[in-house]
Amino acid sequence: MPQFNDTELTAAVVRSFEETPDPRVKFLMEELVKSLHDFVRKTDLTFDEWGYAIDFLTRVGQKCTPTRQEFILLSDVLGVSMLVDAVNHPAREGATETTVLGPFYVGEHRPTPHGKDISENLTGERMFVQGRVIDLKGKPLAGATVDVWHADDDGYYDTQRPDYETEGPSMRARFVTDADGRFFFRTILPCSYPIPTDGPVGEMILQVRRHPNRPAHIHFLVDAPGHEPLVTHVFIEGDKYLDTDVVFGVKNDLISKVEKRSDPVMPDGKPAAAPWHLMTYDFRMKPGAGTAPKPMMAVTEDA
Ligand code: BEZ
Ligand code: FE
Repeated sequence: MPQFNDTELTAAVVRSFEETPDPRVKFLMEELVKSLHDFVRKTDLTFDEWGYAIDFLTRVGQKCTPTRQEFILLSDVLGVSMLVDAVNHPAREGATETTVLGPFYVGEHRPTPHGKDISENLTGERMFVQGRVIDLKGKPLAGATVDVWHADDDGYYDTQRPDYETEGPSMRARFVTDADGRFFFRTILPCSYPIPTDGPVGEMILQVRRHPNRPAHIHFLVDAPGHEPLVTHVFIEGDKYLDTDVVFGVKNDLISKVEKRSDPVMPDGKPAAAPWHLMTYDFRMKPGAGTAPKPMMAVTEDA
């Protein structure tokens, strides 16, 4: 019967992956075990603490549904999502900065005509959003898809509402850039909001005396042929949580000065009730390949 002391045990588990056919999987499993074992040794982890961790992770899994992703939330608040982002995007070379996808890229992103109000029936200050998708030399990229999603005036995403299944998506849509690489739409000015605190991840944030808030932002996922898919947000300048985002997702270049306007028409020439806000942001795409993440829920046939 083999018997191991604590360091021999680590070596034995690492050896147990020797026959793994895929070298990358083998490497990841070995390194995961080494890091986990180091953590246990370094902290003198007790049975109670390990039991607590297993119960916590069990509750994280049990909280997940097709529209609720508690594991992504956990990865986000521990800074793992931003670290994975950092190691995969070491040099932007002038391309727009990236940030977390977040757990709310879950709904339907229906192709939508430019100019449409994606928050038609919602209360909030009105905003016109416009931008271009361009390459690193400034050349417009036509036919790029621009998925957008954001929270409402109370800080909730559509999929967090009990009537999502009957009412369908709002504050989320897909635009396809025109010949000049342009897209534009109407919506409401997003506000800062707390991440969901009714699950194990939110409980943990409150227990360790962190605040649960994210600064106001709109999510964008831009996908243009011949370029790396871009997962990012545009944040609103002046938000009080820009320096302490609970998911560590803010980058200076992603902060936009949103102008308050009183003109009687919006940039597409259609009438506006004053005052309204204008967000203008161009996305610079990096040449390359890659697959954009898909929303977790299937898009319906008639979309
Ligand atoms: C979001 O911005 O939608 C988000 C990102 C990370 C965690 C929670 C929410
Ligand atoms: Fe968000």
